[in-house]
Amino acid sequence: MYVFNREAYEKRMEWYKDARFGMFIHWGLYSIPARGEWVRSTEEMPKEEYMKYFEEFNPTDYDPKQWAKAAKDAGMKYVVLTAKHHDGFCLYDSQYTDFKSTNTKCGRDLVAEFVEAVRAEGLKVGLYFTLLDWYHDDYPHYGDKIHPMRNNENYKNDSRNFDNYLTYMHNQIREICTNYGKLDVLWFDFSYDDMRGEKWKAAELIQMVRSLQPDVIIDNRLEVSGEGYGSLASGNPTPYHGDFVSPEQMIPPNGIQDVNGNDIAWEACVTMNNNWGFCAVDHYFKPASMLIKKLVECVSKGGNMLLNVGPDARGRIPEKSMEILSVIGKWMRDNSESIYGCGKAGIDKPEFGRVTRNGNRLYFHLYENSIGPVPLLGIKKEEVEAIRYLATGAEVPVSTSWVHSDYPDIVFADLGPDPILPDEIDTVLEVVLKE
Ligand code: GLC
Repeated sequence: MYVFNREAYEKRMEWYKDARFGMFIHWGLYSIPARGEWVRSTEEMPKEEYMKYFEEFNPTDYDPKQWAKAAKDAGMKYVVLTAKHHDGFCLYDSQYTDFKSTNTKCGRDLVAEFVEAVRAEGLKVGLYFTLLDWYHDDYPHYGDKIHPMRNNENYKNDSRNFDNYLTYMHNQIREICTNYGKLDVLWFDFSYDDMRGEKWKAAELIQMVRSLQPDVIIDNRLEVSGEGYGSLASGNPTPYHGDFVSPEQMIPPNGIQDVNGNDIAWEACVTMNNNWGFCAVDHYFKPASMLIKKLVECVSKGGNMLLNVGPDARGRIPEKSMEILSVIGKWMRDNSESIYGCGKAGIDKPEFGRVTRNGNRLYFHLYENSIGPVPLLGIKKEEVEAIRYLATGAEVPVSTSWVHSDYPDIVFADLGPDPILPDEIDTVLEVVLKE
């Protein structure tokens, strides 16, 4: 019987919980049609038609060093790349298929170059691997919920051997876990309908993964998808339970707790626009200021944020995404101490923003100013050792003004005469509490 080892779990999760901020990269053949990574499914496109992208694929500008540098400069600590997405195309040299980058014009093992570049920047390496496969003959076609041929009657009476598919999928995951050095994150995607858990032979799969990559952190999607918490939260972990919950395109309102009310690890994966894979007409980018506040929100609720970019057919991260990353990076250079190693503050969310915490340091994130000094609710005057602007280290005095005399228990931080906050996105005050 499987016994969950909490100690080993907490240990492998340490770096991940400290990191708080990572980059997700969705990239593959679908960057050529440029209508998102689901294009083959949404347009119910036959395999033969999709093959033209395979014939064409030649990302001459692919330079993972630049991707890794962009992530590092933005303050991200780990990067997760789609080694294989639902279309079945492998960005690596799998010996079990011909449908791989080394067989395209580019002829390169893109994953090998990626892991090297990311490690060279001192970042943790993650690979995304989908459990689905729209290319493999033994994956369910007709009648499946999402396969491109789900409605095509020509595929109705085919016989398919799902066990063959599972052998293939397990073999490919073994390759990923064997040929690319130490992996820090393995990001499986995703379970649906009865396609979950043991249907994937998940216990066997995880046993193999853990024997090859003992410390790798694995998401919860062998059990669920962007919805659903998984068995770690249920208090009865399966052998293939995820190490973290993976809410998609949303930030859980109250963080995530298990059945006993204890906070558990989670990571919100979020797109910059409305697509994971490159989409030429999707210009609906979230402003950098908003994404910074969403990162702070995740941390203040005890979670991570995995922010996505979708490089184009030439292998470049879209310019708009690069601009956003650079604004985030500028803010992180001043304020990352309020992110890394931080979590819930244990005090109520203030009117003006949010609070994160690392030990005896509280970080008050100010999104708007108050009239006069800022009330830091939730802390007592006698607890306060120092208040500083995090960005400069400059002292912030506690107000002694007569206008606050009716509020003797409240700490009012006196920011001085300027009503405009020094950082118009998020000005962080570091409050050091006496130990
Ligand atoms: C969804 C989509 C997929 C994407 C993933 C990221 O499950 O199927 O395209 O890779 O979300 O979380």
